[in-house]
Amino acid sequence: MQLSPDQVAQFERDGYLFFPGHFSKQETEVLRAQVPVVYAEHRPEVVRERDGTTPRTAFAAHLYNDAFAKLGRHPRMVEPVRQLLGEDVYMHQYKVNGKQAFDGDVWQWHQDFGTWHRDDGMPEARAMNIAVFLDEVNEFNGPLYFIPGSHREGVVEAGHDLTTTSYPLWTLDNAKVTELASRGGLVAPKGPPGSMLLFHGCLVHGSPSNMSPWDRVIVYLSLCALSNHITRHKRPDYIAHRDFTPIATLSDDCLLRDDVSGLPWPSAARAA
Ligand code: SIN
Ligand code: MN
Repeated sequence: MQLSPDQVAQFERDGYLFFPGHFSKQETEVLRAQVPVVYAEHRPEVVRERDGTTPRTAFAAHLYNDAFAKLGRHPRMVEPVRQLLGEDVYMHQYKVNGKQAFDGDVWQWHQDFGTWHRDDGMPEARAMNIAVFLDEVNEFNGPLYFIPGSHREGVVEAGHDLTTTSYPLWTLDNAKVTELASRGGLVAPKGPPGSMLLFHGCLVHGSPSNMSPWDRVIVYLSLCALSNHITRHKRPDYIAHRDFTPIATLSDDCLLRDDVSGLPWPSAARAA
């Protein structure tokens, strides 16, 4: 899958691209069926909300679940990022974010590269997220909020928030968010399951809590240019991977096939 020159220009201007309904219902169902399986695991990779039970995110699910392993090297996810970065990419981080009905908590305002740079020693903002919705995302169930164009600021000042949620994050203060939003406004991409969202590592974003009766599961691949791999190993390797192997993509129909060979990270995928 190749982005058109118009899409590349839009990404450079806004810092994100949205592809509603990019994966079919059937493909999305294959992934969605695995969400309860992954969240039922009691392992450090599965982080709970402050209530200690509700799953907030499952890190590195591509290392212990076949369907998520396939998504981690799906050409519709990997190729647009490889095109924008102009070189091969490796998996820096992989997460299945829950934002569960009634109990899904906020993600404060932040830039992902702010954390990758400060905590993981990632040299430059040559990494980005590509995400797929496994549920419908609507105005009620905690959609992502973006400040369009904020990626052009580079890394902005942030404080290390260790208390607001169960997961530490480098977050922006209200004055900075107000200033950036006065220029770029806010958007909240909404769409059916299977929609795909690509966003720059410096794009300022967050999401509100989910007080609706509907889950909002989104899977994020954080892909980094090979030449830009991390240099600091402060966080566990299931949060900031040390395997800098370039991702080799599978066939476009891999989610619907059982006979896919060459799954990435085979030892872990097979162990599932
Ligand atoms: C994130 O920004 O890393 C997660 C936000 C969300 O899933 O709402
Ligand atoms: Mn983020």
